[in-house]
Amino acid sequence: MNPDNPDRRAPQKRLFIRSWGCQMNVYDSGRMADVLAPLGYAPTETPEDADMVVLNTCHIREKASEKLFSELGRLRVLKQAKEQGGSRMILAVAGCVAQAEGAEITARAPYVDLVLGPQSYHRLPEMVARISRATGSVIETDFPAEQKFDFLPDSTTPQGVSAFLTIQEGCDKFCSFCVVPYTRGSEFSRSAAAVLKEARHLVAQGAREITLLGQNVNAWHGEGLSGGTWTLDRLLLELAEIPNLARLRYTTSHPRDMDDALIAAHGRIPQLMPFLHLPVQSGSDRMLAAMNRGHKADLYRQIADKLRTARPDIALSSDFIAGHPGESEADHQATLKLIADIGFALAYSFKYSSRPGTPAASAAVQVAEAEKDRRLQEMQALLREQQDAFNRSCIGRRCDVLVTGAGRHEGQIAGRSPWLQPVHGLGSPHLTGQIVSATVTAAMPNSLSVRLEGNEALGPPSQTPRQEKAAA
Ligand code: SAH
Ligand code: SF4
Ligand code: F3S
Repeated sequence: MNPDNPDRRAPQKRLFIRSWGCQMNVYDSGRMADVLAPLGYAPTETPEDADMVVLNTCHIREKASEKLFSELGRLRVLKQAKEQGGSRMILAVAGCVAQAEGAEITARAPYVDLVLGPQSYHRLPEMVARISRATGSVIETDFPAEQKFDFLPDSTTPQGVSAFLTIQEGCDKFCSFCVVPYTRGSEFSRSAAAVLKEARHLVAQGAREITLLGQNVNAWHGEGLSGGTWTLDRLLLELAEIPNLARLRYTTSHPRDMDDALIAAHGRIPQLMPFLHLPVQSGSDRMLAAMNRGHKADLYRQIADKLRTARPDIALSSDFIAGHPGESEADHQATLKLIADIGFALAYSFKYSSRPGTPAASAAVQVAEAEKDRRLQEMQALLREQQDAFNRSCIGRRCDVLVTGAGRHEGQIAGRSPWLQPVHGLGSPHLTGQIVSATVTAAMPNSLSVRLEGNEALGPPSQTPRQEKAAA
């Protein structure tokens, strides 16, 4: 009997996973799909036809957990309808809300079968088996001593041309406003051997670009290949040796861990793309201290200067918070000044959101909602101007584009610029996975139009498959 005969495998079941929050959640969702595949679960696009639904949640701001409960309300109806029809839908809540509010979830939504925190994904098969045997819900939100990465299988579902790879989890920095140290636990770095093995596997599956992920990715300090501890610059050098791995990125970094060796790596490693997301949160020293960020605004300015010296075409991106407790008008102005001084190609800005259990939530002076709104708008207007100016400055520039697939319109390709901008231009989708030379012809607020250089880049001059079909 052929053990690979699909008829002999576990019966096909459908799995729907929805992710909110950061890229680490996107990565984790992929790993959950991998760990459930041997149980016969194959991905599906909608919850309606799913035998199991996983909501991979984010706890970073208040609205994030509200979204979970409204989604659960909708799924409850679906689950009940399935049960009335004699079938079953396992409903699981994973991610950071599960970690932070596991007991509240089962109290508010007792129809949820499974609640599991980010460190427990390797236990999913065992938990699904427990659920299939029993009634009632299973909660798993410990921080187990053994690391989940040792127990997760190699990924089976290819991520495509641009892939994520988590190299570090957790955070020991305890910024005043942030839940991550409580939901993801303390810092853990995977070994260089494990990271390199996974990177080679991703490249074998077709990845040309890998983004290394971690809540504090530049604090990575993993076991080196022949013992000792490596830092991120050393790991990047080694990753750059992997044939066909054309592009490397890493996110998210903290200014405190942006040391000279890592800055120098941006000048030394051509595969390291000239774009860095380096959140600063505020431009006021007083606020940076209140936030427990552990550095002053001038350190950020110095890092930006050094990065631009090491890699003159580097573009910077950041996160900002408007209206952290205690923030005065002068603090806000200091942030606008820092933004004006640095010049960002991209930025994310958020209104401060009080998170229960964090030190900022119980601070005496909270900023009024209307004031937070105004400061956020001012910040966003300036950041938007800078983003537009950066995109416009790309017009006429030659750049390499990584083709990630077909564009929205016929005869178009979609891709990424070195500065992470989404790009589209005329070309054949058979270029997917290739790096093509292009000239930027137009800039939109969030993307670029390009003209691909060279005849070969434009693909075969013949008709596109859709035109051929229409002509037939
Ligand atoms: N590790 C990263 C950030 C992770 S959270 C870092 O240290 O910068 C992503 C972003 O969400 C943060 O950079 C911050 O700008 C924002 N954020 C986190 N907690 C928040 C809160 N309570 N209110 C508003 N924004 C918040
Ligand atoms: Fe949160 Fe600060 Fe850690 Fe970033 S460094 S994850 S903002 S506690
Ligand atoms: Fe959200 Fe957790 Fe990521 S709180 S931002 S999903 S680490």
